[in-house]
Amino acid sequence: MRLNLKLIGYPIKHSLSPWIQSTFLERAGIEGSYTLHEIPNEELFAEEIKKLREAEVNGFNVTVPYKQTIIPYLDRLDITAERMGAVNTVSLEGKEWVGYNTDGIGYVQALRDKFPDLSSNMDVSILILGAGGAARGIFHGLVQTGYKKLTLANRTKSKGEDIIKGTNASVITLAEAEKNIAAYDVIIQTSSVGMNEQKQIIDLSDLREGTIVSDIVYQPLMTQLLKQAEEKGGRLHYGHTMLLYQAREAFEIWTDKRVDVTGMSEAMIARLTGGK
Ligand code: ATR
Repeated sequence: MRLNLKLIGYPIKHSLSPWIQSTFLERAGIEGSYTLHEIPNEELFAEEIKKLREAEVNGFNVTVPYKQTIIPYLDRLDITAERMGAVNTVSLEGKEWVGYNTDGIGYVQALRDKFPDLSSNMDVSILILGAGGAARGIFHGLVQTGYKKLTLANRTKSKGEDIIKGTNASVITLAEAEKNIAAYDVIIQTSSVGMNEQKQIIDLSDLREGTIVSDIVYQPLMTQLLKQAEEKGGRLHYGHTMLLYQAREAFEIWTDKRVDVTGMSEAMIARLTGGK
């Protein structure tokens, strides 16, 4: 059987997901395709989803702005998607469409793959900047993996408090984060600040050498925040690997196969920076 996989969202023309998933299909030796199904506006959503049902697609990814819009169309959510209130992966299981969210766990795996020392030390002090959808996924991915010392900093404190509810994490302001930046071993930037702009969410003047600084923004790959982190002797983690690893988790849901991602991060960097 040929696997019929899709990506829905808008805009998605420049998405790297078709390249990532085609590479996975090839590496796993599975026949199939992963193609774009652009839905330009919400009014067309119901109709386009009906088409996917009729086409009996085996699975699809959901990206902005539809990660919440898709939920009423699904038969069931797994526990993580339920907790996130957002879905990035849908799988046809029997006759049911089941919704998953692989963003958070994908992100945590990307980080641990790059910095293996994080796998053996659950007591590292981690600071998350921002409290949007991405922060929620990453925060719960970290909690699920067993990290115990989590702090979230956000411009609007109440949004952070909503994310950490039921955990022993704490919420601080961005000013407090900036002032105490040397207290953290890992800093994760989850907001859109820095995307296609020379801005950063906080200043890293007091960064401790060796601190891991991760930015989920990957356009540009080297954000202004990461540039400053590099100057201060930080260890950098680029945002595109989150895309790669959430895709690997989605692929495993669809196929039960865990693919090897060797070389793919480098190939993505070449694509993102215009090389080949
Ligand atoms: P989402 O991830 O849900 O799509 P987003 O618009 O990317 O949302 O915003 C994610 C986070 O970035 C939010 O926490 C937002 O702060 P608020 O909760 O105070 O709105 C944060 N954010 C966006 N722009 C910001 C800025 N210029 N300065 C500080 N934080 C910002």
